Amino acid sequence: MLILGAGGHGRVVADAALAGGQWSRVFACDRDPARSGGDLPHGGSGELLHGVMLMPIAQAMAVGVPVHVAIGKAAHRERECAALRAGALATVTHPTASISRFATLAPGCFIAAQAVVAPGASLGTSVIVNHGVVVDHDVVVGEFSHIAPRAALGGGVSIGKRVLVGAGASVLPGIRIADDVTIGAGAVVVDHIDEPGTYAGVPARRLQ
Ligand SMILES: CC(C)(COP(=O)(O)OP(=O)(O)OC[C@H]1O[C@@H](n2cnc3c(N)ncnc32)[C@H](O)[C@@H]1OP(=O)(O)O)[C@@H](O)C(=O)NCCC(=O)NCCS
Repeated sequence: MLILGAGGHGRVVADAALAGGQWSRVFACDRDPARSGGDLPHGGSGELLHGVMLMPIAQAMAVGVPVHVAIGKAAHRERECAALRAGALATVTHPTASISRFATLAPGCFIAAQAVVAPGASLGTSVIVNHGVVVDHDVVVGEFSHIAPRAALGGGVSIGKRVLVGAGASVLPGIRIADDVTIGAGAVVVDHIDEPGTYAGVPARRLQ
């Protein structure tokens, strides 16, 4: 399995992939040569994190194994996923995450340590559910969205595409959030959000 993106998020994904034991071998690469071993002698590889070998990107992408795109920025993640062949996207789940058998995960999702994904939840392509997040029953999360550490989505919440729900934020049950919205860290979302933009505070209000 190949992790595309060797920054901080890539290291978190690598750690989870190894902890889960889903793959016998895990590699990582990055478009930044300084992060991908491309500047090492002989174009060789180095160690990213306990057994995850860094490879120059051209070499890594030629191998043809499943790829997990581990890039924090939604637009970049979306672009990289679109460039991959159909069926290539790998989902990574940390073994301490609790994922209901009645939840649906589209390809390329990442579920971090201690996260809970409840029955009836549905996650789109390449969604990040970060450390300690609660995605309650029947929540829908659109593709390329990121639910940051310790955020909580109440039952029946609907999140659009490319949304960032900031660390520790709460979204009350049944609330709808449109595409391309950013929710600030610690916010409490009590009303539907229909317009793209940045919203923060308790209760969450649009930042001017
Ligand atoms: C909300 C957020 C996106 C705003 O970022 P920004 O557009 O760069 O805005 P600024 O930092 O310039 O702040 C603008 C104003 O909002 C306030 N503000 C910023 N973040 C806030 C938050 N989370 N809650 C309440 N107010 C906040 C600032 O104090 C500032 O107020 P002022 O105009 O009275 O001085 C950002 O602060 C945030 O919370 N991001 C989420 C980070 C996160 O959880 N990432 C996940 C990492 S895994």
